[in-house]
Amino acid sequence: MNKMTVKDVDLKGKKVIVRVDYNVPLDDKLNITDDIRIKASLPTLEYILKQKPKKLILMSHLGRPEGQVVETMRLVPAAKRLEKLLGQKVLMLNDCIGDTVKQAIEKSSETVIMLENLRFYKDETKNNPEFSKKLAELAEIYVNDAFGTAHRAHASTEGITKYVKGVAGFLLEKEINYLGKAVTNPQKPFVVILGGAKVSDKIMLVENLMNKADSILIGGGMAYTFLKAMGQNIGSSILEKDKIDVAKAILEKAKQKGVNLVFPTDHVVVQGIDKPDTKKTVKDIEEGWLALDIGPESIKKFKEVLSKAKTIVWNGPVGMFEKEAYAAGTKAIAEHLAGLKDATTIIGGGDSAAAVAEFGLEDKMTHISTGGGASLEFLEGRELPGITALVNKK
Ligand code: 3PG
Repeated sequence: MNKMTVKDVDLKGKKVIVRVDYNVPLDDKLNITDDIRIKASLPTLEYILKQKPKKLILMSHLGRPEGQVVETMRLVPAAKRLEKLLGQKVLMLNDCIGDTVKQAIEKSSETVIMLENLRFYKDETKNNPEFSKKLAELAEIYVNDAFGTAHRAHASTEGITKYVKGVAGFLLEKEINYLGKAVTNPQKPFVVILGGAKVSDKIMLVENLMNKADSILIGGGMAYTFLKAMGQNIGSSILEKDKIDVAKAILEKAKQKGVNLVFPTDHVVVQGIDKPDTKKTVKDIEEGWLALDIGPESIKKFKEVLSKAKTIVWNGPVGMFEKEAYAAGTKAIAEHLAGLKDATTIIGGGDSAAAVAEFGLEDKMTHISTGGGASLEFLEGRELPGITALVNKK
């Protein structure tokens, strides 16, 4: 990575403001149901604290409150969880800018201070310069460790760097290194697994990865637009009619580039999502049937390709794994990756990360990205404004 990190700056006695991504899922009682993003920020925070800063100020968004104070979107649960994980008191403020915040930071005997949800101000997502300046005024050094939000050009990720020096945290560095190596210089064979409901979400990704990958395994709802383009029967399976031509063009390009595109050859079908009792495995999908998972023959075929890989990137489940009846394909792929000894396994954030967590296999993967949209955009080869804004290494 060509960006300066926390290790390249002197933090002793300084007020350090860190953008984290604590946009974590909460249940009805505001309990955090997955704290991976908080845990992932700990190496940076612990390192900063060891350097004896004057203050360590944390900021994040949670949800999309759109400029309103929404009680259920306060960052209190995240601050409490952090306090436990860090083993140190975290002072939670009820705002993120202004004199009261400044004074509270100055007066507090605590080192670690957390600001309230940035998106309670619409200026955050609008990347308003005045708002960015107010955030910057709170500290002498800015650290971005919010990989999950690095694809947003917001005040706390991009605007702020115009007013205070910005360096990367360890999580940002780790994500860039793993995802970056996969797309620029992967150890070969490089195999990509793509899934998820819509082909339209993954067009740029396929196009970019086609330049590097040896094989691309395509499952999930998105496979059916391709199968339709190849003239197969897909029954009532999810189809994006307006993307059939795009799918055809991708198939053609893959042929020209010599990329091995692998599609499911058998399918778990039902007569409706809520009719798991009708479930059966077929090769040819008849009218009135809808495919929700890949079948055993496809699983075997996918596994064969994966067994030879040295680098694997997985983005998107190959079936509707949230429902147990249609989870077998995604589970089999996750378990297979978990058992591979010689391959680097990189899991894109969002649904694939959720699937790996669901099957309790997080510790068995080389890297699980904390960014959903951010990892997708990074793998698409796009520049992430939150990263670009940071100071380059000399
Ligand atoms: C995420 O969960 O993907 C990030 O926190 C970004 O959230 P956003 O999509 O609301 O900007």
